[in-house]
Amino acid sequence: MARILGIETSCDETSASVLNGTGDDVTLESLVILSQDVHKVFGGVVPEIASRAHLTSIVPVVKKALSDAGADLDDVDAIAVTAAPGLIGALLVGVCYAKSLAFTRGIPVIGVHHMEGHLFATALEHPDAAPPFTGLLVSGGHTLLLDVEEWGRYRLLGATRDDAAGEAFDKVAKLLGLGYPGGPAIDRMAAAGNDRAILFPKTRLTHADRNQPHLPGRRDFSFSGLKTSVLRYVTTRRESLGLAAEAPLPTAEISDICASFQRVVVETLVERLFDAARYAGAQSVGIAGGVSANSRLRADARSRGESREIPVFVPSLALSTDNAAMIAAAGLRGLRAGQRSDWALSADASLKL
Ligand code: KG4
Ligand code: ZN
Repeated sequence: MARILGIETSCDETSASVLNGTGDDVTLESLVILSQDVHKVFGGVVPEIASRAHLTSIVPVVKKALSDAGADLDDVDAIAVTAAPGLIGALLVGVCYAKSLAFTRGIPVIGVHHMEGHLFATALEHPDAAPPFTGLLVSGGHTLLLDVEEWGRYRLLGATRDDAAGEAFDKVAKLLGLGYPGGPAIDRMAAAGNDRAILFPKTRLTHADRNQPHLPGRRDFSFSGLKTSVLRYVTTRRESLGLAAEAPLPTAEISDICASFQRVVVETLVERLFDAARYAGAQSVGIAGGVSANSRLRADARSRGESREIPVFVPSLALSTDNAAMIAAAGLRGLRAGQRSDWALSADASLKL
């Protein structure tokens, strides 16, 4: 048994969590997530503001996670921290704080890759979500399809060639005037819309041969064409309604656009995921990252899984978006496998998984 403190500061959430367990059998003792609302007025995350906000909140957030767990630092055996990828200044706050805490206590520090952390979110709540499985990681910065052969061994089956799925949600929300973060806003508006009101195009990438899914080949994504066609549609509608360039469209139209856009994104993700699972011969699939909070993605993936008789694992909403529990879970697994970072551990804004 080991108790591990997880710290996550890669973007605009300051989060800390305490886990206790062996790696397979884990108890989540506490999770604190402080979202930085300050970015809303800017319509997106401002990196320098994010770093400064992490600086002021990291100490109270870690203290709260420890006290919620009924523990203090003397009870902690190791510290896991997101070391890559993300906003460099934001990452550095977490990494420097984690290293100093660990150094003064004489306990190990373990640097965790943020996207590997997301993979562990599913396993935290579903003991059956263990490798091998096909994983879809969809966040604001990444869209990755992975063959998770075992923890720590990942084969890339596909990735986005341009915008990440979450980025597409955020950009479309921005052009509709829905604010940041865009994903939850589009999800909400789409609930009242007709998902076939506008037939936005689905990007087909030829090198993943859809007729021969048993053949090796990557299953990539592309969302920038879809985003451009939403932009064209919105511009044309504004012109025909005689509206100014940034003026909001009528609410019913926004709902239809959100539902139609969301349908294309979700269908693309679900098709590629199950196609990849079939290619990899996977017995189950896991979806994680901020976009896995999307209500339609969760529903569509589950019903596709039922019809294919493949279990689909998705984290609860709190563990879908950025949180330190997933970082602690990945760190605990690393600790058990004998991994340690040395005191030269630093942050890396763009390290690949
Ligand atoms: O994993 P995450 O919290 O942070 C990154 O690692 O990027 O993911 C954030 C992304 C944002 O793009 C946000 O708009 C998207 O996840 N997101 C959603 C939903 N909730 C968050 N996208 C679609 N539907 C949602 N309900
Ligand atoms: Zn994330």
